[in-house]
Amino acid sequence: MTPCAFQNRLFPSAGGAAVIAAMLALAFPACAGGSEEAMGKTIFTKTAQPSCTLCHALKDAGSSAEIGPNLDELKPDAERVAKAVKDGLGIMPAFGESLSDEQIKAVAHYVARATGAAK
Ligand code: HEC
Repeated sequence: MTPCAFQNRLFPSAGGAAVIAAMLALAFPACAGGSEEAMGKTIFTKTAQPSCTLCHALKDAGSSAEIGPNLDELKPDAERVAKAVKDGLGIMPAFGESLSDEQIKAVAHYVARATGAAK
């Protein structure tokens, strides 16, 4: 199994995998392209603090929170997600300090793809 495939398999699992996934992401930065979507999903469900799933419904991530807009209905494109995540919006916290530009890009692309805004 390639390191990238290994990394992809780890992402869906719960618990301590977030730490391992973060370490692997550092160890194998070359995976960032191929597994960007998996990385974005992990950021959406775990890495971002507070987690996006706390406030947003997104079917692909298994969340149904109603504090923020339902992303399946909003279908924001990647640019719109990245802006909201980086700068915050209303009561949504800004993640510009806690997430790297690469992580913001990954979660933005993940949301856009998961909601069908981008293929
Ligand atoms: C504490 C709750 C909370 C968390 C955590 C949160 N959001 Fe939000 N989010 C909101 C609220 C509330 C809004 C609506 C803000 C408004 O329109 O005033 C929003 C709006 C958005 C929008 C729409 C932006 C727009 O242009 O209308 C996107 C996309 C989004 N959030 C994505 C995310 C992602 C991705 C994460 C995780 C990195 C996240 N949110 C974390 C509460 C949250």
